[in-house]
Amino acid sequence: MSIFKSKSIESIMGEEEHSKNKLAKVLGSFDVTMVGVGAIIGAGIFAMVGEAALKGNAGPSLVISFIITAIACGFCALCYAELASMVPVSGSAYTYTYATLGEIIAWIIGWDLVLEYAIGNIAVAISWSGYFNELIKSIFQIEIPLWLRIDYRSFIQRGYDITTVPHIFGIPVVFNLLAVIIVGFITWLLVKGVKESAKFNNLMVMLKILILLIFTAIGFYYFKSENLKPFAPGGFKGIQIGAATIFFAYIGFDAVSTVAEETRNPQKDMPIGIIGSLIICTILYIIVTVSLMGMIPYKEIANQVNEPLVAGLNYHNAPKFWVALISLGAVISTTAVLLVFQMGQPRIFFAMARDGLLPKFFSKVHPIHKTPHITTIWTGVFVGFFSAISNLDEMANLCNIGTLFAFILVSVGVIILRIKQPNRNRPFKVPFGFLIPILGIISCLYLILGLDKITWFRFIIWLIVGIFIYVLYGFKNSKLNIQKA
Ligand code: ALA
Repeated sequence: MSIFKSKSIESIMGEEEHSKNKLAKVLGSFDVTMVGVGAIIGAGIFAMVGEAALKGNAGPSLVISFIITAIACGFCALCYAELASMVPVSGSAYTYTYATLGEIIAWIIGWDLVLEYAIGNIAVAISWSGYFNELIKSIFQIEIPLWLRIDYRSFIQRGYDITTVPHIFGIPVVFNLLAVIIVGFITWLLVKGVKESAKFNNLMVMLKILILLIFTAIGFYYFKSENLKPFAPGGFKGIQIGAATIFFAYIGFDAVSTVAEETRNPQKDMPIGIIGSLIICTILYIIVTVSLMGMIPYKEIANQVNEPLVAGLNYHNAPKFWVALISLGAVISTTAVLLVFQMGQPRIFFAMARDGLLPKFFSKVHPIHKTPHITTIWTGVFVGFFSAISNLDEMANLCNIGTLFAFILVSVGVIILRIKQPNRNRPFKVPFGFLIPILGIISCLYLILGLDKITWFRFIIWLIVGIFIYVLYGFKNSKLNIQKA
């Protein structure tokens, strides 16, 4: 059963120690928590909150959805923290499953994490472009032409007139240039090096927390308790759909684990970073959502579903200055998310290449900047291309299902490793035996059931393609396979 061969944790750690392709250890526990908050607060609270309130008519009960999702993430965060503190090397859930569930599952999860990181970032880049346009509009009263900040399908679906856009050889030109520009900029920054990028990230995180607090204050200023009635127009199903959709807002705390190899004291810094960042964000989300739902009847958000916080401000004709400030907050937040995810994805590819599951060429480290520059650039090209032609909601949901699946496998991994290696040192151990990993699995399944069927279908296709690639490439070239032969 060589597809289930596992790496030992010692060999994973030793590999990292001896590898020529080592990443620089520059991050401390504060940086790591900031990496978490940087990855978490972004398009979810600034954009998807609109879709989540409307889709299943969660309305004001979206606050409950947020709490349910936070609890589900909390279970999984604890599992992540246990594994991350035991296996503190680059590669996230991918590396943990290699040590616990075997190679095929590790490959599946590595492939699945592309949905979380790269596809998630496509959604974030699209949201960035919407808010960037709001920012320009509120400050300079000029707009970027629509055909340079939307994908073709959304343009048609929303009923815009295609004859108004430029044509090249008879083909209408409609694509999200703004999203491509931001992805290019982030990629350039990351090739230059993690240290500078982490500092930049810390600054952006501080700013976005401040701006969300300001939004909350404005929301409470306009607050009307009638807007919270009826509280749950979509009933329990609405709350579940809201929870599944808004899961996107929480994704990212696990990205902390992808920088494990670059932290100075991962045993301590990983649990602090993962759990700390999740708690900070949950508190912020709840107060922002209460204030948004109190300031606008939720159905009115439909007027500007991708920029719901601006919808709330415009509903009261709030001064343009506030629109500009909140849009700036969204632009900063989504930039920070892009940064962390564009940093995480290449490191997963990097770890997979080091194991021989992807071509060796991907595991090169830049001679001067010490970054995995090849995978960083490839990730940039992929995300940039698809952000030009895709739609926010579809990409966010695909990201959600991929991440939920990864969380399930991580929770299973904790259980298996406890059974297989009960005496191994666990610098951080999830309390109450198997209870929390089991609750993690159940709550992720509950959220998956709240997503739509087309999302399930896309996810299954993605997995099938991944298994083909493993059979044709990874299985033969895996380092573990070559060593054994
Ligand atoms: N949680 C991240 C965001 O909301 C993905 O942008």
